[in-house]
Amino acid sequence: MRLPDRIALITGGGRGIGRAVALAFAREGAHLAVAARTSAEVETVAGEVRRLGREALPLTCDVADEAQVKAAVAAVLERFGRVDILVNNAGISSLRPLHGIPLASWERTLAVNLTGSFLFIKHVWKPMQRNTRPGGSIINVSSLGGRRGYPLLAAYCASKWGQIGLTVSAAEEGKPYNIRVNAIAPGKGDTAFRAQIKEDKSRLLKAEDHVGVCLFLASDEARYITGQVVELDWFGPPTAA
Ligand SMILES: NC(=O)c1ccc[n+]([C@@H]2O[C@H](COP(=O)([O-])OP(=O)(O)OC[C@H]3O[C@@H](n4cnc5c(N)ncnc54)[C@H](OP(=O)(O)O)[C@@H]3O)[C@@H](O)[C@H]2O)c1
Repeated sequence: MRLPDRIALITGGGRGIGRAVALAFAREGAHLAVAARTSAEVETVAGEVRRLGREALPLTCDVADEAQVKAAVAAVLERFGRVDILVNNAGISSLRPLHGIPLASWERTLAVNLTGSFLFIKHVWKPMQRNTRPGGSIINVSSLGGRRGYPLLAAYCASKWGQIGLTVSAAEEGKPYNIRVNAIAPGKGDTAFRAQIKEDKSRLLKAEDHVGVCLFLASDEARYITGQVVELDWFGPPTAA
């Protein structure tokens, strides 16, 4: 087991990448707190975690709301006593030309993707510092849009670049406490996130393709790794038409 009895909190854990990572962590021995807004989805994933023999805490939470984030972290501490691993995975996006982005849409994208990550880091930080097992591992799910620019995705890219800045800054602050903070930057993935887009789905990452790197960064195998950004993308040859 690579995560024996670790306590992992995953935002956006109700479907897609977050669900795949939650189930993989459970298979490796972790107990899971799974947070998202749709209670039916987090309840379902919690049931799947329990069927793998681990404990699960479903949390209905909007990551952009500090009171809800604080309550979610408090619920995890009450149930499990500590947090060893945080995966900031909740995210949204919408495709719009820059001049047509309503301010509310811009602000909501930053609030969920960037401020949500900040709020969870803020509220798990002191509990992680107190861990008897030294420190903790925080993984921010950014995007290739956090490393490059793409048309129609200005708000999304700004939020995902911000997540990288948050990652490297928090990593520096975490060093004295063995709190490691890393990010992954996936390319296009075949999840509900891109369901509306007509494209060749065979060339997209599957949700499970994000599991290996997250398991590694969460585990003690990565105990000397912090402040890093791991890019993931589909590098194979074009599929035959
Ligand atoms: N799929 C891609 O092409 C791709 C590429 C690069 C990076 N990513 C990143 O990967 C992460 C996961 O995406 P995915 O592809 O797995 O998408 P997904 O299937 O749509 O899952 C997104 C998850 O985030 C949750 N979420 C959204 N807004 C939230 C909020 N305000 N509070 C709490 N939870 C919230 C959703 O649940 P609720 O709606 O129930 O809240 C859902 O569980 C995102 O950060 C995304 O930016 C995705």
